[in-house]
Amino acid sequence: MKNNNIILMGFMGVGKGSLARELVKRTDRIAIDTDDLIESLENTKVKKIFENESEAYFREREKKLSLWLESSVKNSIISIGGGFYHVGNLQDIGHVIYLESSFDAILDRIKSSHNAEKKLKKRPLLQDMQKAKSLIAERHPKYLASADTVIQTAGKTSASIAEEIIELLGL
Ligand code: S3P
Repeated sequence: MKNNNIILMGFMGVGKGSLARELVKRTDRIAIDTDDLIESLENTKVKKIFENESEAYFREREKKLSLWLESSVKNSIISIGGGFYHVGNLQDIGHVIYLESSFDAILDRIKSSHNAEKKLKKRPLLQDMQKAKSLIAERHPKYLASADTVIQTAGKTSASIAEEIIELLGL
């Protein structure tokens, strides 16, 4: 059975974290982020996990976390890493919202933020822009297949997307 969490899914840099914070401001819910949890449990950064272990190791950590989210987390906002959709039980964890945007709009969003360089550097899969562009195209159908709701985000503020979600889900 589905838990009553709200899962924010989408490509790297689409604004899952900012949106989670806007939803927290407007509801009685608390937000958690899968990358933050993994970094805390492993006591290192995602970038370092990719470098010192492997992407496969990181994906296994995501899988383990997904089982815990399903068994133990309720009534929360959960922002997930861009590749977390692979875990297999996303639908059991909560209502999945796919934040859809084009690659160019995502890049513009990152580049216009005050810490753009840091945001790019910390993401191992955003180092090669051609590969990242192929990755978003490859993932788009998988995100669609994993989603309960799709929201277009380009040109919208996190605050307005939060309002849209609250209205849509009656939070
Ligand atoms: C990844 C996205 C990242 C992080 C890791 C891998 C991906 O999270 O989990 O670098 O595979 O798309 P964000 O989507 O929060 O950047």
